[in-house]
Amino acid sequence: MNIAILGLGTVGTGACEAAARSEAIKVRWIFVRPGKKVALEYQDLITSDIDDIINDPEVDVVCECMGGETPAYEYVMAAMKHGKHVVTPNKGLVSAHYRELVDCARENGVALRFTSSAGGGIPWLFNLLRTKRCDTITRVWGILNGTCNYILDTMHREGSDFDQILKSAQDLGYAEKDPTADIEGIDTLRKCVISGDLAFDGDIDPDSVPAFGISTITAKDISWFKAKGYVCRLIMSASRSEDGVSAYVEPTLFRADSLEAGTGANNNLVSLEAEELGIQSFYGQGAGKAPTGSSVIQDVIDIATGTEMLPGGYYHLPAGSTPVDNSTCTHRYYIHISNDCQGFPFQIVAEQEEDKDGFYLITKPVPVSQAHSIAQEFRSNGSFFMAGIQE
Ligand code: HSE
Repeated sequence: MNIAILGLGTVGTGACEAAARSEAIKVRWIFVRPGKKVALEYQDLITSDIDDIINDPEVDVVCECMGGETPAYEYVMAAMKHGKHVVTPNKGLVSAHYRELVDCARENGVALRFTSSAGGGIPWLFNLLRTKRCDTITRVWGILNGTCNYILDTMHREGSDFDQILKSAQDLGYAEKDPTADIEGIDTLRKCVISGDLAFDGDIDPDSVPAFGISTITAKDISWFKAKGYVCRLIMSASRSEDGVSAYVEPTLFRADSLEAGTGANNNLVSLEAEELGIQSFYGQGAGKAPTGSSVIQDVIDIATGTEMLPGGYYHLPAGSTPVDNSTCTHRYYIHISNDCQGFPFQIVAEQEEDKDGFYLITKPVPVSQAHSIAQEFRSNGSFFMAGIQE
């Protein structure tokens, strides 16, 4: 099977290295932007003209590892229209253009696979699809951002400073180029949308999923959690609701003996609950060169060996966009808010402590939609952090 790899960053390089370890795969082209410095071993394969790849009848699969929506979207659509299968770890692309990508794959009779777009090296989406073949999934949830997990785990263990830990996550190649997407929960949101689309045959609009990240967490919050026996993790959750899905991203406090609390460093832990199967959890490396690059090549091998049975995959698109409703999903929250917080709805508070830095509150159970509206209103007014509490 001949492949072209678009992009030679962390994941593209990992895919090249994984391809070299597989006898079934031959890298025919590597696309890079003009002027990019490339290692000697790859120089004969380089092009900066996408048409070299699109018009090459010998290319079977295009592995888009560039990231970003443009020109990745244009390139993968052109590749599929020219009869090439597509594999991509690009969660921004898949979450934003799921319907167009699936439709295009079907119309052109090609495979579209993106196992590495959520969970990196963990075969999460692959097993989600397998489970669905003879069961009904009711909920998916878990830790899907290695950068945030690394930061939260290190803060919990060492009490180190947020910015310093973020810098080391970038140096280790976990964080996105712009880490805002990691620490504000946007990366997790994209993986939540993809997981929810596959679990519930949905087409979830990323803009309809609320996300609260970890950028405002303080060492004091962490001390408070430790004193009460909690560990904080950034999680995504998506479940079936009456008309559509409930879906959100937020920091969550877990009891210290839970699987989530035991998921340290940059690892991911993602779970599904199905009507017959019950709960299944998947743990491992969710980011980085080798795990994500290997996962890209695993998808290529599945295409080569025919494991990919349907053009476009096992994706079932609904007629329209899937409504997101978080009003019936309720739990308690921890909220840290500055003393100067006029208008805060204290009627939702069950427990309250206060010092010079602000209020430390535990709410009564409140709808997720209400908690995220409060976050939107108060986070710009000074210090604000919130975390759901796993009951
Ligand atoms: N920045 C992401 C993470 C990379 O830290 O998990 C994998 O999607």
